[in-house]
Amino acid sequence: MSLIEVRNVSKQFGGLAALTDVSFVLNKGEILGLIGPNGAGKTTMFNVINGFYPPTKGDVLLKGEKVSNLKPHVLCKLGVARTFQVVKPLQRMSTLDNVIASAFIRTKSKAQAEEISMEVLKFTNLYEDRMFISKGLPLGKRKRLEIARALATKPEIILLDESFAGLNPTEINEQIEIVNKIRTDKGITILIIEHHMRVIMSISDRIVVLSYGQKIAEGTPLEIGRNPVVIEAYLGEAHNA
Ligand SMILES: Nc1ncnc2c1ncn2[C@@H]1O[C@H](COP(=O)(O)OP(=O)(O)OP(=O)(O)O)[C@@H](O)[C@H]1O
Ligand SMILES: [Mg+2]
Repeated sequence: MSLIEVRNVSKQFGGLAALTDVSFVLNKGEILGLIGPNGAGKTTMFNVINGFYPPTKGDVLLKGEKVSNLKPHVLCKLGVARTFQVVKPLQRMSTLDNVIASAFIRTKSKAQAEEISMEVLKFTNLYEDRMFISKGLPLGKRKRLEIARALATKPEIILLDESFAGLNPTEINEQIEIVNKIRTDKGITILIIEHHMRVIMSISDRIVVLSYGQKIAEGTPLEIGRNPVVIEAYLGEAHNA
């Protein structure tokens, strides 16, 4: 069953076509990778899916219902959570309070929000850091805090925007484990943007490739890895990097 359907979506910023006629589905229970060169339109796709921008053309459907013009907080209530490419914790608050602030979308009770947050902090291996001011956390933990904040909204779908960027190999392995657990233990469906090829090839069931705002390929990691169009547009450069 498709949870999200992106149907012929275009997004124009003035004269710039950030997305042109992009269609794909996100099926329940899958990890779908979204890859492509810098400026390909990946983050814009997230911004359209979670209601930051309305599409210029086309529609986003959630479980068959059009949600293209709903605002991010409404989509969050409907079960669509996201992380940001540039991490945005509430800098002067503790790790715990950052997560609690997100948990309030599901409950008015402080005790319940705290209970949700403690569970999420344990799940993301941040429990020991709960009293630290988030500004002082190293990047790896701030990236995980972004995921924790998204999980505290109890989503059905999570959109991860470059959650592995800037991490060292140990942090990458820890993060892979957490992303896999989000699916297996919590049953959450995942759409993930990532430049890190080892990560995206190993965790995705399927991959959609964007280039200059257009979908140029879609398939299993194996199919994408040997697709000449993808190698030409992106992988050649990423493999060499
Ligand atoms: N709010 C905006 N106003 C104007 N142009 C924008 C806006 N947001 C994105 N763009 C442009 O749209 C294009 C796609 O940007 P986007 O951030 O979606 O790319 P991306 O695939 O996420 O790239 P990266 O891998 O570097 O994160 C770029 O040319 C970008 O400059
Ligand atoms: Mg981006």
